[in-house]
Amino acid sequence: MLTDPVDADLIEAAPNLRAISNYAVGVDNVDLDAASARGIPVGNTPGVLTDSTADLALALMLGIARRLAEGEAFVRAGRWATWEPGLMLGRDLHGATVGIVGYGRIGQAVGRRLEGFGCELLTTSRSGGVPLDELLERSDFVTLHCPLTPETRGLIGDEALERMKPTAYLVNTARGPVVDTEALARALHRGEIAGAALDVTDPEPLPGDHPLLDTPNLLVVPHVASATHATRGRMADMAVDNLLAGLAGEPMPHSVNADALAGATPQAP
Ligand code: DGY
Repeated sequence: MLTDPVDADLIEAAPNLRAISNYAVGVDNVDLDAASARGIPVGNTPGVLTDSTADLALALMLGIARRLAEGEAFVRAGRWATWEPGLMLGRDLHGATVGIVGYGRIGQAVGRRLEGFGCELLTTSRSGGVPLDELLERSDFVTLHCPLTPETRGLIGDEALERMKPTAYLVNTARGPVVDTEALARALHRGEIAGAALDVTDPEPLPGDHPLLDTPNLLVVPHVASATHATRGRMADMAVDNLLAGLAGEPMPHSVNADALAGATPQAP
């Protein structure tokens, strides 16, 4: 599971380990160098969760900007007294400028959906797009779709949040540590951004008494972007296929270190 750190110590302590099959597309929980050095293939589940994750990113954008959780709590608390012109005003997603950080499979799937909303898209990724600073300064929504790597850890910290418009929203369906949690809490308390909607957090799980939950204009769900019956089933099939291939000594259908393993001489544990 993505919650299991498969680090160099674990790999070293498991001399009979022959295959690592992650039930996720993200493999930041696995030490790929340590696995590759031992000749151990690492499988993941790319592609099958792209659309479900993109769907949730849009749900989060709409949820935070149109104040869905607040509205529901308001009704359930018996506070809905009448229709009012100024009640629960939010901001439009349609026609907005949306910055997509990380323009791989999921970022592009988000982009396709936003075209239907008439949004202007700004993208940034390792292979191009606009500079991150420009994206942050111009976007009404900033949505994160980059992997967690040493380069992206803490990418959205004080400086990045200060660059965002006070009317802009941050959405994270990537990995929690891409955002500096304390910086985000400060930005929300100070009103430096309009709000944040998170599927992933740091720490994760986020304890119910975590200070981040005391911030205004925050929507959080528990890492459920791929959580549909169909998608989790496809992920399971893929993870099992990877595992069985790895144990049989055959190439995994989806391996993140196939290139590193090709031609490499496995080291003894
Ligand atoms: C992944 O696959 O990396 C997601 O975070 C969970 O589906």
